[in-house]
Amino acid sequence: MKKWPPIDDVDRRMVLASLEGDNHTFGPNCEAFQKEFAAWNGNEYAVTTNSGTAALHMCVAACGCSAGDEVIVPAYSWSSSATCVLHHNSIPVFVDIDFGTMNIAVDQIEDAITPRTKAIIIVHLHGLPVDMEQVMAIAGKHGLKVIEDACQAHGAKFNGKKVGTWGHCAAFSFNQNKCLCGGEGGMFVTDDEEMFAAAKQLWSFGETRTPLEDRDYHAYALGWMYRNSDLGAAFGRAQLIRLDDYLEAQKVNAQRLTECLSDVPHLILPGEPDGCEHNWYNYTVRFDMEALGHASDAAAFRDGILRALQAEGADVLVWQKFILPVMTVFRARNGYGKGCPWSCRYAQPVDYSPESYPMAQKHSDRHIGMTTPLRAPNGPEAAELVAGAFRKVMANLEQISHAN
Ligand SMILES: Cc1ncc(COP(=O)(O)O)c(C=O)c1O
Repeated sequence: MKKWPPIDDVDRRMVLASLEGDNHTFGPNCEAFQKEFAAWNGNEYAVTTNSGTAALHMCVAACGCSAGDEVIVPAYSWSSSATCVLHHNSIPVFVDIDFGTMNIAVDQIEDAITPRTKAIIIVHLHGLPVDMEQVMAIAGKHGLKVIEDACQAHGAKFNGKKVGTWGHCAAFSFNQNKCLCGGEGGMFVTDDEEMFAAAKQLWSFGETRTPLEDRDYHAYALGWMYRNSDLGAAFGRAQLIRLDDYLEAQKVNAQRLTECLSDVPHLILPGEPDGCEHNWYNYTVRFDMEALGHASDAAAFRDGILRALQAEGADVLVWQKFILPVMTVFRARNGYGKGCPWSCRYAQPVDYSPESYPMAQKHSDRHIGMTTPLRAPNGPEAAELVAGAFRKVMANLEQISHAN
């Protein structure tokens, strides 16, 4: 398996030029990266950050969320899809996922809306876009803002339009494993000038000017330090040149894997619902544990299958074992101590009972996934290797033990 991301002379030249330059903080590569990424994705404004999580927090702030406001989040995602809400003293309210798409159950969003709801965070999980026509219609009806967590979904499209251009603002991640790698890093994007200004203020110490402008070093509001560095931005810019080629290779490899696995019994393969263009960041397979007679010990049996696949040389993993509402930070309500922000006088009690999210738990117990095997420069032969491991393991399931 070839390593991710591929590095070539363009990466070397651009990163070295940054190194030899005289600004290693928020420098000229950061400014250029913002412009180039905004042009690539089709956004008016972009601010580059030191992580996708920082960009998500900027989204929450840009949407005007404050103490006690509620923000709707899918019950299954990366932790910071929800903790970004706490960062701004607001309260996450979880909605179960749709088992078929693994994304938020759009038809359950309205039930979670209260008079305190301010925004909806939509996660395009594993690179599969959510039906944004429906989401925007719900948000419009209730006067809510929509934040797209596009950290995994670079280049994915719904009805031909890229993710990150549907909602009021969006966050992308450029960490090691993402389709666009800058080592670490992220991007806040929006088409709204006021949201852009609000996000930028939070991003750099609450100031109103960027480090490349004439700063007055005055904190006009509560700010963080979320800026990207010039070296990381140089790397991200170099990788962005090849991003469309990477995404094309990933699509071809994912299609090959689907072809190879389509006749293997008891696998639930990922699909592309009408209107969706997946970016195949993570190719996720679920096991039909009911048919296999393992509904009651699904996670343990899945872990046994995982170890067997890995023993066959398949680079597969379990992406996220815990649904968000069971994570300790939410169960124990231990954000800032003393029960805050849930105990804040502006907040109302919210229910995080795991039983309210049966599809998230079902998915969590049954899935495995893969990212790098389907990435460029690997070709379809890498997908065939993984498929061979699946065939062998699925034909010998009687040898799977929970302890192996
Ligand atoms: C869905 C999702 N949201 C947010 C993040 C956070 O991105 P970062 O690690 O760049 O902070 C990640 C990845 O780590 C993610 O997968």
